[in-house]
Amino acid sequence: MAKSTLSFVCQNCGAAYNRWQGKCDACGEWNTLAEEDSAAVPVSIRSRRKGRTFQLESLSGKSQDAPRLASGMAELDRVTGGGFVRGSVLLLGGDPGIGKSTLLTQATSLLARAGHRAVYISGEEAIAQVRLRAERLGLSDAPVQLASETSVEDIISTLSEGAVPRLIVIDSIQTMWTDTVESAPGTVTQVRASAQALIRFAKKTGAAIILVGHVTKDGQIAGPRVVEHMVDAVMSFEGEGSQQFRILRSVKNRFGPTDEIGVFEMTGLGLREVSNPSELFLSERDLGSPGTAVFAGIEGTRPVLVELQALVAPTSLGTPRRAVVGWDPSRLSMVLAVLEAHCGVKLSGHDVYLNVAGGLRIQEPAADLAAAAALVSSLVNAPLPTDAVYFGEVSLSGAVRPVAQTAARLKEAAKLGFGRAILPESARGEAGGDAGLALNSVGGLSTLVAEIAARGSRRPQRETATVEKNATPARFRRQDG
Ligand code: TYD
Ligand code: MG
Repeated sequence: MAKSTLSFVCQNCGAAYNRWQGKCDACGEWNTLAEEDSAAVPVSIRSRRKGRTFQLESLSGKSQDAPRLASGMAELDRVTGGGFVRGSVLLLGGDPGIGKSTLLTQATSLLARAGHRAVYISGEEAIAQVRLRAERLGLSDAPVQLASETSVEDIISTLSEGAVPRLIVIDSIQTMWTDTVESAPGTVTQVRASAQALIRFAKKTGAAIILVGHVTKDGQIAGPRVVEHMVDAVMSFEGEGSQQFRILRSVKNRFGPTDEIGVFEMTGLGLREVSNPSELFLSERDLGSPGTAVFAGIEGTRPVLVELQALVAPTSLGTPRRAVVGWDPSRLSMVLAVLEAHCGVKLSGHDVYLNVAGGLRIQEPAADLAAAAALVSSLVNAPLPTDAVYFGEVSLSGAVRPVAQTAARLKEAAKLGFGRAILPESARGEAGGDAGLALNSVGGLSTLVAEIAARGSRRPQRETATVEKNATPARFRRQDG
């Protein structure tokens, strides 16, 4: 007798269970289990007894064409690692309305204009809607091949005819369905089977495929994480709703770097590439107000200057608030602990807010020094010098540790007209003789804190400034040494 193949599959992570339960043990989500046929294997494959033989190849074989296809959008190519790889499948995730369809309409149009066969399959929008967008973007004349379809079999049959498309956009994978499995569209089994079929098509023909994936509230690509494992690259398109900047980030890439970002600006005429993000992130600087510090960071291979904004305000709450946007909250806790333990900065009676301007998300520990400077500057109500940039990692002992790519950071700062850099002592040598700006090296965080506190004491003091009176540079130099 054929075994029953019905099982309960978590729609969030894809874990399968024999019986229904309220909570998925694998990912901890509630109410995500749905009944599905787990024998998600096409009937044609199941019934085949004996495999066919195939040709084994050598490593040194020639591929017919250039392995990469540059899209012509420099910011997009930067993130993919130089263009779309033949036969690869890329998953693009992002919140609804962030601009995924816009980005891909622009990319397919550029490729089509350059003479490549580019196909855009929309499962969400009618042809008229896609045309309307193209019209708005001024791309109506691009010879993109467009369809509004959701059946994977129909799509594959159609695309198998004629020349192999160089790029196929599937917007979105959650709307696709295949006959080979019985579940409803959008379920894990359907999404997985549809993705599998499309991936097989890409590998067989050499077409590059981009799958658009929806993102749930907590930022995961909705439905199966399994799709992330199946594809060659995962990119996420991010941005703050209220801001025009959009950041394309590579999360996984089998053929390129994963730390590169591409920066775009959403305009009335579509996405505009931002080739110098520092200028953008610093364009609306609040010069001369306390609590802001410019961090000289590195995103991938590119230096990016961005403003960190801190607000330290007295609180009546027993447990003060610590809120951070754009940076790791545990890094903030660590910097606050070091400020308390080694620099005599009392923050237990204060709420602390930290924000990275422009919607950028920083992952580098090198931002420690800039964050600390912004925090202390807000606490003592003393603005930092407007022509200074900060970078350096703070260790638990309060020492300021060197970070990578000092020279690139300094070069970018000098290019944007900054006059001095506050940086780790040991980074001085790496900076080279002619950095183009004054270098203030700090060995310990307490030295910097004392300097900022001294600036604060020359200004009218707020009552809340609580850097201890004896926090003099001399005292801390002794401690550090
Ligand atoms: P869209 O690409 O449809 O987002 P997604 O596919 O990620 O859901 O973009 C929708 C938003 O972008 C919408 O709010 C309008 C805005 N937009 C512009 O501001 N300018 C434009 O030229 C276009 C086409 C869209
Ligand atoms: Mg869309």
